[in-house]
Amino acid sequence: MQPGDKIDFDDYSANYDELLRESTKLYADDSEYFAKYKVDLIRGAAAASGLPVRRVLEYGCGTGRNISYLQEAFPDAEVVGTDVSAESLRIARLDHPAQRFEVEEDGLDLGRFDLIFVASVFHHIPPAVRAEVMATLARRLEPNGSIDVFEHNPYNPVTQRIVSTCPFDADAILLKPAELRGLCAGAGLAQLRQTYCLFVPPRLKWFLPMERFLGWLPLGGQYWVSARAGRPA
Ligand SMILES: C[S@@+](CC[C@H](N)C(=O)[O-])C[C@H]1O[C@@H](n2cnc3c(N)ncnc32)[C@H](O)[C@@H]1O
Repeated sequence: MQPGDKIDFDDYSANYDELLRESTKLYADDSEYFAKYKVDLIRGAAAASGLPVRRVLEYGCGTGRNISYLQEAFPDAEVVGTDVSAESLRIARLDHPAQRFEVEEDGLDLGRFDLIFVASVFHHIPPAVRAEVMATLARRLEPNGSIDVFEHNPYNPVTQRIVSTCPFDADAILLKPAELRGLCAGAGLAQLRQTYCLFVPPRLKWFLPMERFLGWLPLGGQYWVSARAGRPA
C-alpha cells in the first residue's frame, strides 16, 4: 500500500468481524463490547439533553455492527445506515432487514436527522476531504440535532499498536481531538463535549465505573466529540 492509497472495505466486509476481533483481543474478548459501549454513551447524552430523537443516521456504518444497538437505544426512531462500501452494506441489509441502508454518493438526500453517529470513520477519510464530509453531515442535522464522533486516540500507545497491525487500518491517518473539534467548528457546529473513553478492558469490570471520572485524561483507547447544530437564524 502506497501513502495516499485508500482501503476499499468491500475487500474486508466478509471477514471484518474476525479481523476486528483479532486486532482488539488484547483489550476485549468480545468485539461487540465496543458497539454497546459507544451507543450506551450517546444514549445517556441524548436522554440528558431531553431532546427528541426521531431519526438516527450512522455514517460509515460498515457491515452494521452498531445498528441493532442504535435501534435498541432509540426504539421509536428510524435508524438509517450509510457507507461508501456497497459490499459492507449488502451484509448490513442481510443482518438488519428492517433498517434502511444507502451507499454514500454525491447528491444522496436522506433528509435531516436528530442524531448522527460516526464511529472509526474519519481516520479513513483523507485529511483534505474531512472538512467537506463534516459540512455534508452538518447539513443533514435538524436544528438542535447532534453529531457524535468516536475516533481512535492517537496518544494511546495500545491504540497505535492496534491500528498499526490491523489490515483494514493500513490507510488510517489518526486525528487529534483538536482536529476533530476544528472540523465541527468549521461546519458551524457548536461543541458539546470532548471525552476520552475506553480506558479499562471489560475483564476488569470492577474498575469500569471509574471511567466516567477519566474523560479528561488523554489515555483512553478512543475519544468522543459531540457537537450540535444551532437553530436557524
Ligand atoms: C473501521 S470501519 C467502521 C465501521 C462501523 N462504523 C463500526 O463502528 O463498526 C470504517 C468504515 O468507514 C467507511 N468509510 C470510509 N470512508 C468513508 C466515507 N468517506 N464515507 C462513508 N463511509 C466511509 C468504510 O467503508 C468502513 O465501512
